[in-house]
Amino acid sequence: APVEKGNYRHYMQKEIFEQPIVVAQTLQTYVRPFEGEVALPVVDADLQAVNRLTIVACGTSFYAGLVAKYWVEQFARVPVDIDVASEFRYREPVLEPGGLALFISQSGETADTLAALRHARSQQQRIAVVVNVPTSSMAREADLLFPTHAGPEIGVASTKAFTCQLAVLAALAANLARAKGRLTREEEQEIVGHLQEAPAALNAALNHDEDIAAMAHLIAPARDVLYLGRGPDFPMAMEGALKLKEISYIHAEGYAAGEMKHGPIALIDDNVPVIVIAPSGPLFEKTVSNMQEVRARGGKIVLISDAKGIEEAGEGCMATIEMPAVHPLIAPLVYAVPVQLLAYHVAVLKGTDVDQPRNLAKSVTVE
Ligand code: G6P
Repeated sequence: APVEKGNYRHYMQKEIFEQPIVVAQTLQTYVRPFEGEVALPVVDADLQAVNRLTIVACGTSFYAGLVAKYWVEQFARVPVDIDVASEFRYREPVLEPGGLALFISQSGETADTLAALRHARSQQQRIAVVVNVPTSSMAREADLLFPTHAGPEIGVASTKAFTCQLAVLAALAANLARAKGRLTREEEQEIVGHLQEAPAALNAALNHDEDIAAMAHLIAPARDVLYLGRGPDFPMAMEGALKLKEISYIHAEGYAAGEMKHGPIALIDDNVPVIVIAPSGPLFEKTVSNMQEVRARGGKIVLISDAKGIEEAGEGCMATIEMPAVHPLIAPLVYAVPVQLLAYHVAVLKGTDVDQPRNLAKSVTVE
């Protein structure tokens, strides 16, 4: 049966609001809450031998991979190489036989990613796939299949598939860490506990839909928008910028907050809104000082943070968006919501075709 929009105006909006449910659905198959264990369909012995992980994907799936790089390196201390699929094959990557290569894709059909997968296979890599369409080419060609359970995603701009990818990748990072002897039982239980908090935190984030809709008019007139983040929130800044570009056609860039002084700061004036993604935590103060650099140049800031962060640094911002206080592990999942909603409401104000943006395809099956 065709997927209906129900009470929603667009598929994208419906899919944003489905995230608490589909993330919970996805997590169910990767964690055992009572034992406090991650439980991927792979034996630890298989992961023990992994000394390097190669991640390849395109678009939003690539940004999920970038977040995973932070997690895998932090928890499992396994070095991660990551490429966009269109670059991977042609740069002749150095791949040790027996290495593990991970491909991330909503559709499982993206031509560049599929070609990269086949290249990795030809280089004797073990092929792991995080994919949302279980009958897809990538699912069929995988040695290790990690499905996301987001359900059909219709909106061209990926939303719920992305947060489900993050859920699977967090579990994978934890599983790899355990296999490598890097996680105590207690630490694993803690990680599982934090993952289990994600659906409720996503719900809390969605409760800010109206505030975000009300401030979208501050962004809609802009020609350029800058997104800043640090650590795993740096890829979230890029994802936020991608969402805005895709559906509102406003030029946007995601930058590492600390790198802004090496270029984008030259663009700052009161016509370039700067969206700062900064949950309070170990990196918060650094990001705030980058934010002050923007403010000192007359830049207009939208701070997305939790109550503590907003209390500390919200003064003088053009707007703030308050997220629930969450553990840094699940922050990327939760902070996906406000950047998706912001792009969505800006696009609605601009009257663009949200579900079918010009020149874009849901699944790009040409190179
Ligand atoms: C297209 C879509 C994006 C998606 C990308 C990768 O560009 O418009 O939303 O992120 O392809 O697709 P995949 O199915 O491989 O995740």
